[in-house]
Amino acid sequence: MAIERTLSIVKPDAVKKGAIGGCLSMLEAAGLKIVATRMLHLSKAQAQAFYAVHKERPFYGSLVEFMTSGPVVVSVLEGEGAIAKNREVMGATDVSKAAEGTIRKKYGTSIEANAVHGSDAPETAAVEIAFFFPGADIQDYARSE
Ligand code: RTP
Ligand code: MG
Repeated sequence: MAIERTLSIVKPDAVKKGAIGGCLSMLEAAGLKIVATRMLHLSKAQAQAFYAVHKERPFYGSLVEFMTSGPVVVSVLEGEGAIAKNREVMGATDVSKAAEGTIRKKYGTSIEANAVHGSDAPETAAVEIAFFFPGADIQDYARSE
């Protein structure tokens, strides 16, 4: 499998729970390498643009409100099959369906306040990474185990 990059967001609910480190730690423990990270408070326009794919969905307004309810931590994760691996560690969107050992099971609250975001495909990963990180802000280092 190829080395991929994917975008991770620790959402406002997990930040407020003091779970930034907990979420990122589970991703690192799964072998994903953090090559960029920063904290910001999304504006309404940024949240609307980021989740534009869902603009016709009934939960869009509520999702935008939730994502702007506090700061988030955005990171670029790198590794073999990073996109699928991140989604696996995140767990199901609906926290009540998330498997034991996943981030959403541990730190999520509901189908909306589900602790983390992860890109779902190579195309969306590229767009989402560029949304938050110009190329020069992404670091290159070898990870030792
Ligand atoms: P994400 O994009 O945040 O990684 O989550 P996902 O792929 O697992 O789920 P997606 O279908 O893309 O939904 C995006 C986010 O919208 C909120 N949501 N609310 N109330 C609802 O029925 C509902 N469904 C989704 C969640 O915050 C979800 O992660
Ligand atoms: Mg999604």
